[in-house]
Amino acid sequence: MNKAVILAGGQGKRMKADMPKPLFKVLGEPMLEWVISACEDSEISDICVVKGFMGEMIDKYLKGRYETVLQAERLGTGHAVQQAVPFLEKDTDGNTLVLCGDAPFIDSQTIKESLVLHKQNDNSVTVITAELENPFGYGRIIRSKNGISGIVEQKDATEEQRKIKEVNSGAYWFKTADLIEFLGKLKNDNVQNEYYLTDTVAIAISEEKNAGAYKSSNPNIIKGANNRKDLLELNNYARNMVIEKHLENGVEFVCTDGIIIERSVEIGTGSQVLPNTILRRGTKIGNNCIIGPNSTVENCRIGENVVFNTSQAYDSVIEKNAEIGPYVHIRPESKICEGAKISDFVEIKNSSVGKKTAVAHLVYIGDSDIGKKANIGAGTVTVNFDGISKSRCTVGDYAFIGSNTNLIAPVNLGKAVYTAAGTTITRNIPDHALAIDRGELKTIEGYTQKKLSK
Ligand code: UD1
Ligand code: CA
Repeated sequence: MNKAVILAGGQGKRMKADMPKPLFKVLGEPMLEWVISACEDSEISDICVVKGFMGEMIDKYLKGRYETVLQAERLGTGHAVQQAVPFLEKDTDGNTLVLCGDAPFIDSQTIKESLVLHKQNDNSVTVITAELENPFGYGRIIRSKNGISGIVEQKDATEEQRKIKEVNSGAYWFKTADLIEFLGKLKNDNVQNEYYLTDTVAIAISEEKNAGAYKSSNPNIIKGANNRKDLLELNNYARNMVIEKHLENGVEFVCTDGIIIERSVEIGTGSQVLPNTILRRGTKIGNNCIIGPNSTVENCRIGENVVFNTSQAYDSVIEKNAEIGPYVHIRPESKICEGAKISDFVEIKNSSVGKKTAVAHLVYIGDSDIGKKANIGAGTVTVNFDGISKSRCTVGDYAFIGSNTNLIAPVNLGKAVYTAAGTTITRNIPDHALAIDRGELKTIEGYTQKKLSK
């Protein structure tokens, strides 16, 4: 079976943060996650992650999804893969892919196509390469008649070799059994005194085994980040890549300023995304919506023809034809049904709002269920927390809740209930009733004059 070893021991000193480099995020996801998903997209699910600097953070992130192994000392890429030998020995039949956990743009097409070449040529090792305008710092590929004859590191290369533009991406396919054997033969007799994984190529050739290279047409597979500036560059690249995908799918962008769409987001045809809009993990948007400007949506399902303007929503469902915003905050576990209208300064949490119901101004609805075609007046508040526990309210279909009504939870208002403005509801109200809680209005004439004359 095919498996993968991902090298994730890097520190990223120049990032100036105590975190393993592969955990720095590109478009909302750690670089390591991009690499893992490239494996998963290539049907490789047997993965071992080699951790090093602050390795416990890698374990905490992975939550046991994949095996990890610790490289306690940083003695080179070959030494890193050596730590995974027990993982490799579990099944030595197939091939092993080695990847860098801090090069996020390795893609499944490159992985699959390089494996095809690897098998066709019966290679012991196939290096995945790319051509760079500026190859400085990378291992150079020395091509031979039938494949490659070696990889020379920048620091070990001659003037002539440094002119070669084809470089090692740091990703490889190996026959698993050969990889184990080669790892046992690595020496650290080079300028950096490191165990170079790249020396496996020369070892294979010395044993008259085949070594080859697969040149990817996508030089971005090499891109990594050594500092915050590089990381920003990776983010910009990823951001544009995702926006281009949506453009091809028929999504409209008049201006892409401030638009950040994470990889997993789906957007229907004919929808438009306006500036300064952040669409995060798990969000799925239907056709013909207008999303933004100035909005954040995370892990929400949004139906078709929804207008979502200058608002935020998290872990919720918004059905078709709803109109949200401006200035609405929809907090987790909420459901806004078809055609509902939620606007200025409304917060909704863990609640459902029925079809065509209007919640138009200055309202808090928490832990409540509102029926269809209801009207929730300005300033209505569900008083859902008594300082110790939270309780729910329900409001029936066609209800008309007057402005500044307080619903002291738990309380149920029936169908078509009316509440007078300023009413505080402390008991259940039956269908079709009016709830009015209002002391008689007193007028004390001349009060101000009397007060001021004192
Ligand atoms: C390596 C390759 C080089 C290639 C380049 C691509 C070797 C000897 N050279 O360069 O040919 O062009 O990658 O980026 O392999 N790592 C560990 N433990 C170590 C050393 C490295 O886990 O002891 C990890 C790093 O965190 C990184 C990857 O291996 O994910 C590559 O290491 P890095 O130091 O960036 O690359 P080089 O060794 O310079
Ligand atoms: Ca190095």
